[in-house]
Amino acid sequence: MEKYIVKGGKPLYGEVEIQSAKNAVLPLLAASILTDEKVVIHKCPRIVDVLNMVQILGELGCRTNFEGDDLSIDPSDAANHEIPSALAKELRSSVFMLGSVIARFGRARIAYPGGCDIGLRPIDLHLSGLRRLGVKIEEEGGYIDCTVDETVGADIVLDFPSVGATENIILAAVKGKGRTIIRNSAKEPEIVDLQNFLNRMGGKVTGAGTSTVIVDGVKKLYGLEYTPISDRIEAGTFLIASAMCGGELAVKNAIPENIAALLHKLREISCKIAIENDKIYIKSGKRLSPKLIETSPFPGFPTDLQAPMSALACVCEGSTVVVENLFETRFKHLAELMRMGADVTVRGRSAFIRGVPELRGADVFASDLRGGAALTLAAVAAEGESTVSDLSHIDRGYTEFEDKLRKVGANIRRIRV
Ligand code: EPZ
Repeated sequence: MEKYIVKGGKPLYGEVEIQSAKNAVLPLLAASILTDEKVVIHKCPRIVDVLNMVQILGELGCRTNFEGDDLSIDPSDAANHEIPSALAKELRSSVFMLGSVIARFGRARIAYPGGCDIGLRPIDLHLSGLRRLGVKIEEEGGYIDCTVDETVGADIVLDFPSVGATENIILAAVKGKGRTIIRNSAKEPEIVDLQNFLNRMGGKVTGAGTSTVIVDGVKKLYGLEYTPISDRIEAGTFLIASAMCGGELAVKNAIPENIAALLHKLREISCKIAIENDKIYIKSGKRLSPKLIETSPFPGFPTDLQAPMSALACVCEGSTVVVENLFETRFKHLAELMRMGADVTVRGRSAFIRGVPELRGADVFASDLRGGAALTLAAVAAEGESTVSDLSHIDRGYTEFEDKLRKVGANIRRIRV
């Protein structure tokens, strides 16, 4: 296992460059099997989730090659419709491979993806959407078997604007027969990126970014080269790091409108924010309490920034209520923050945080990706020495996380234990 050793308490100064978005790259990789021509993803982050998805594509028969940050996929010989269970469990978001594997082979088999550390992660909306497209689905012995000759367009309403379900249905419908309408679809920027990717391949998808997506099935999709959008959650993580630690930071290759909800909160707590094209400049202020952080689907406050923002709230003046509406158990980082001196009370989906002047270094343990990032920011901001253990969670979603923090002044190093 690996851990960080951090000597905290110093402000951060400098510039960080944001990677391509994990949650955009993963559905694009799923979409790559919809063509038998070569696909190249430029600026592809070598994070564990991406490497796992690349392995799944390999198991399905695709040839893949990672050169620098260019990932090439040759899906011409793909022939296996079974998504390997070990990898599906490792990468639960591989469930949206169902849509593209069904579209490619007319059938797909995947182990039921269990829950994870942040919640139950049901897939009922994925499966009901696929059934509406005519997919026959059998669930037996922990496996899901899907078969269909050709998906047929349907008018689908999602009970909840699920990101994964929206993506799965688009992937299943893009080469189907006729028109599919997805109502109450998720509006996240990563879905707009998937739409742009598929349309560049010859698909006909419109409405992504709104609550109604329309897919008109086409016969064939073609290979392409593509650069995904930048990671709004990584950008937000570094902006929150700056607000917590003090100093001045420039976040490069960001898309400000994709984190408008966070920028609004950071201004509320008296950070100075300036935007120049794809650069966001932040100068931390007095850290007044944000009072309320309530997560909701895009364009609301993103659940993936709730943990880092909760860590920031621990060192703000005044009290903050954090309400996590998306996932049932996404407060595990708070217990670890309390070991650093945070003053927190949790009741169900609400956390009541009373700000303290500073956190104290401690040995803390990450239990999920964004919680691990939050604990690392807290360690960098805290007075004294901390360790942050089980970096496997952080490595799923952040490239060179400690290198980027060290580059702007954090005293942080990774050791193997
Ligand atoms: C995506 O997960 C992201 N992952 C998550 O990021 C992100 O937190 C989440 O969207 C919300 O923005 C990827 O894109 C790979 P959902 P997803 O389906 O698709 C309920 C990270 O840290 N729901 O929008 O699984 C579900 O219980 C990860 O990068 C159903 O009820 O999220 C949850 O309450 C974590 N039935 C809500 O919807 C379903 O069939 C949001 O889930 C599906 C979801």
